[in-house]
Amino acid sequence: RRTVVIDCDPGTDDAVALWLAMASPEIDLRLVTVAGGNVGLDLTLANARAVTGLAGRPVPVVGGARRPILGEYRSETNVHAVNGIGGITLPEGPPAAPGIAADAIRALLRDAAPGEVTLIGLGPATNLALALAPEPELFSRVREIVLMTGAWGEGNWTPSAEFNAASDPEALAMVLATGLPVSLVTLDLTAQALVTPEVIANLREAGSSRCLATACDVLAAIPRSKRFNGRGTPLHDPCAVALVLWPELFTCREVSVTVECGEGPGRGRTHVDRWNRTGRQPHVTLAETLDAPTFFSRLGARLATLP
Ligand code: BDR
Ligand code: CA
Repeated sequence: RRTVVIDCDPGTDDAVALWLAMASPEIDLRLVTVAGGNVGLDLTLANARAVTGLAGRPVPVVGGARRPILGEYRSETNVHAVNGIGGITLPEGPPAAPGIAADAIRALLRDAAPGEVTLIGLGPATNLALALAPEPELFSRVREIVLMTGAWGEGNWTPSAEFNAASDPEALAMVLATGLPVSLVTLDLTAQALVTPEVIANLREAGSSRCLATACDVLAAIPRSKRFNGRGTPLHDPCAVALVLWPELFTCREVSVTVECGEGPGRGRTHVDRWNRTGRQPHVTLAETLDAPTFFSRLGARLATLP
């Protein structure tokens, strides 16, 4: 079993990612940390508590960054609705655990064995950056950092930048600068995990659990993307959890990645050097292709095991 921390901003797809992690015996989810992202921190924290509560798996949920390290906080309510979770009302979850996300992550690392902890980042990288920066001695406890962020092709927040990367480019740069092994799930990968009405219908068929039904309601509430001619919407964050669970469904390549931190139209752009044009030493494992039908069928089977 892998010791896992999920840092997130639920978020419709974050919610499904949390349910997938909690439904998976391979993952020992020890901590959920939350940042303001898709919606403000008060809502993302309430959503994370509600999502973990619905799954009936006790896990500490700790709030963290309300805003990026530099710059302004901006929400993404077009996709996730004003409550961050597709307008679906979930029963109130257990209270948040005390403390601040970055401290909670460091405390967990301090108690961990060398190479034990997998950090999965599904929102702006602020909490992870603030956790890792002050205590490089703790880096040895990290097995890998798996991030849903960035794009090698076009962005979804600006023409060139993906939402999580654009929300806090400095934080992402800090996480990349740790030199820890990073696995990256970008928009180019998640475009292959398109949630269409047929995908939702198949998921509903997978079982009768309340979490599965709620996940399907949440997915059905997301507006279908213009970019995919209204066929569906990519299921971003669960792909990062799937990369931990089922690496055999992905093909990957070693690359170097830098993130643009300047002001200007490229802010938050990830430069993904897939062909080693820079000559930089690759330090990121980039997920490039996904066996989406198997992913969706395993996702349904897992969510069906929750209450
Ligand atoms: C990412 O941004 C958020 O809107 C999603 O939850 C996902 O983490 C995709 O760009
Ligand atoms: Ca997210």
